[in-house]
Amino acid sequence: MIRLIWLFILTNSFLLGGVLYAQPTVRVNNEKTTVESLPDLLTLKHGEPVNSPEVWERLKRPELLHLFKNEVYGMVPDGDPIPSSIEVIEESDAAFNNKAHRIQFALDFKKGHRNLRVHILLYLPKDVFNPPVFLGYNFYGNHTVVHDDNVLVSDSWVRNNETLDVYNHKANQKSRGKRSYRWPVDKILQEGFGIATVYYGDIDPDRNDFTDGIHPFFYKEGQDEPGLNEWGSLTAWAWGLSRILDCLKGYEATADSKYILFGHSRLGKTVLWASALDQRFDMVIANNSGCGGAALFRRKNGETIQLINNRFPHWFSKSFKKYNDKEAMLPLDQHMLIALNAPRPVYIASAIKDKWADPEGEYLSAYYASPVYELYNKRGLSDRNFPDVNKPIHQTIGYHVRSGKHDVTAYDWKQFMIFAKGHLND
Ligand code: GCU
Repeated sequence: MIRLIWLFILTNSFLLGGVLYAQPTVRVNNEKTTVESLPDLLTLKHGEPVNSPEVWERLKRPELLHLFKNEVYGMVPDGDPIPSSIEVIEESDAAFNNKAHRIQFALDFKKGHRNLRVHILLYLPKDVFNPPVFLGYNFYGNHTVVHDDNVLVSDSWVRNNETLDVYNHKANQKSRGKRSYRWPVDKILQEGFGIATVYYGDIDPDRNDFTDGIHPFFYKEGQDEPGLNEWGSLTAWAWGLSRILDCLKGYEATADSKYILFGHSRLGKTVLWASALDQRFDMVIANNSGCGGAALFRRKNGETIQLINNRFPHWFSKSFKKYNDKEAMLPLDQHMLIALNAPRPVYIASAIKDKWADPEGEYLSAYYASPVYELYNKRGLSDRNFPDVNKPIHQTIGYHVRSGKHDVTAYDWKQFMIFAKGHLND
């Protein structure tokens, strides 16, 4: 019998996107045994072995995608594609002291009286044609990511945040550049990468409300919220990344670029799911993604299914709620989500003080995904022991746990760029 040992309750507070929240109770299940009961990646549901990339791709991959769609994140409803148009609304070749191109696109979705505008901000180094591009959502608007007065201020609903001067859910000029410490755009450009970012709330505002964002575009008559196994916000954000990719692939200067998806925290969860769904993404980096991202549900360390469903009821499908406090009933776990990215390079990054995201659970998930990479003769993680702090591992699965807390730091970006350069041509 597995016994849960309740080790400690933290009573301090933590910053979530700059907003002060009461620190939820951090539970530590001190037994490692739970992960020994992980559902097997290399066995089909009727028991046959998965022993080649061919069997993985034809049978196991679809089986797992079906499970993740139906049991966890929810599926995008069937139907005709939503009519959309893309337009360059601003551009300059004088960004970053004349070193970069800046292009701002408006991606518009239209259906009946509904209109949803998504702003894409793209910077490209001037001396590289079709450079590899980091693509990631931001939390508070494109204008917060850089000190650049030409970046348009988002008009969508944003989470209030006193540090960023966001009140009444409207972004404003005062938050310009305030998140630039997380986005070393200048350095990224210097290293020969492009970077594209979008405010995630442009696709779906991050609140428990399904009357806004992209969801209503898919409703059948009379419907006003997603059905039992239909999409929550994480799938909506993932879907949005694919639509943004469509745009960038349709733009001459990035048509043949390679795309590295990047996401932090809830957006780290989003990117792992997005690139599992859409294999056009060449690489994925999930930073501090935790529960519903890289971390194994069955460890129940830090955030659990019940805790995440209660605090963020709109993130997953309604069908996921039946696993509240019933992790053992899940027919999958998150090593399978990571494996759905195989054989593409995937990087999982943790922070040692980010107990809420369960760093060791993130590592073990990547470790247990490795057999699928081995089917392709790629190297995943070979040591089950949790690595030392600040000792990155850069196989086709990459991993680091850095010192410090839940955040995106210069150290993280340094590793991401080294990893991208080393593995984009794998
Ligand atoms: C909360 C949430 C996490 C999430 C994080 C974030 O802490 O519980 O699951 O990753 O917010 O997105 O900042």
